[in-house]
Amino acid sequence: MSGLFITLEGGEGAGKSTQLDHIRSWLAARGREVVVTREPGGTVLSELLRDLVLHGDHPEMSPHTELLLIFAARAQHIDEVIRPALERDAIVLCDRFTDASYAYQGGGRGLPVEHIGALEKVVHRGLQPDVTVLLDLPVQEGLRRARGRGSEDRFENESEAFLQRVRDAYLSRARAFPGRFTVIDASLERDAVWGQIRAVLERHVP
Ligand SMILES: Nc1ncnc2c1ncn2[C@@H]1O[C@H](COP(=O)(O)OP(=O)(O)OP(=O)(O)O)[C@@H](O)[C@H]1O
Ligand SMILES: [Mg+2]
Repeated sequence: MSGLFITLEGGEGAGKSTQLDHIRSWLAARGREVVVTREPGGTVLSELLRDLVLHGDHPEMSPHTELLLIFAARAQHIDEVIRPALERDAIVLCDRFTDASYAYQGGGRGLPVEHIGALEKVVHRGLQPDVTVLLDLPVQEGLRRARGRGSEDRFENESEAFLQRVRDAYLSRARAFPGRFTVIDASLERDAVWGQIRAVLERHVP
């Protein structure tokens, strides 16, 4: 595959969606086809599963059900959107991907890393992001931003302890995969965050 797969990660309100537009325009200005997508979601079927996971009124949903629904959405997303785009040399820009499963279902919900790894192996079939930007932010600041914006989902309503485990798990993923990850201090102002993301892009896109 000859395209470039970029993922944007970080906790609630870290600024992923805010930065996505800058990244899209910067890449498009370089004449590349850019496919902007998100997880869970990114296809009709995957968005239905997203809605079930994030907004469904199912407090009984077990952590493993949540994990499997997210990976079901991901399987469809990879096969229908991500892999075909990379095969035609596009740049795929994805708002959250499998590192989020390690952070939320692994760190947050406490599911064993091996269970996530097993699903990753089956669903990815060798695919990995080339570049992952982690927007790192203290939990309270992220919640303040996310709540200021409105439209809460199930994860924004989790405890601060849960969201702290999410942050810690993200940072430990970044330490485990230093070649792929860049950690950015998302508490800086928007332009400063964008400047650091642009520096990462300049290293990967001529
Ligand atoms: N650097 C920043 N400084 C201050 N506020 C910011 C910054 N970046 C984004 N915001 C604001 O914080 C709120 C959350 O940002 P955004 O929706 O981009 O976060 P997100 O990472 O996509 O969150 P979620 O995980 O919930 O999708 C928005 O109101 C946005 O305008
Ligand atoms: Mg967002």
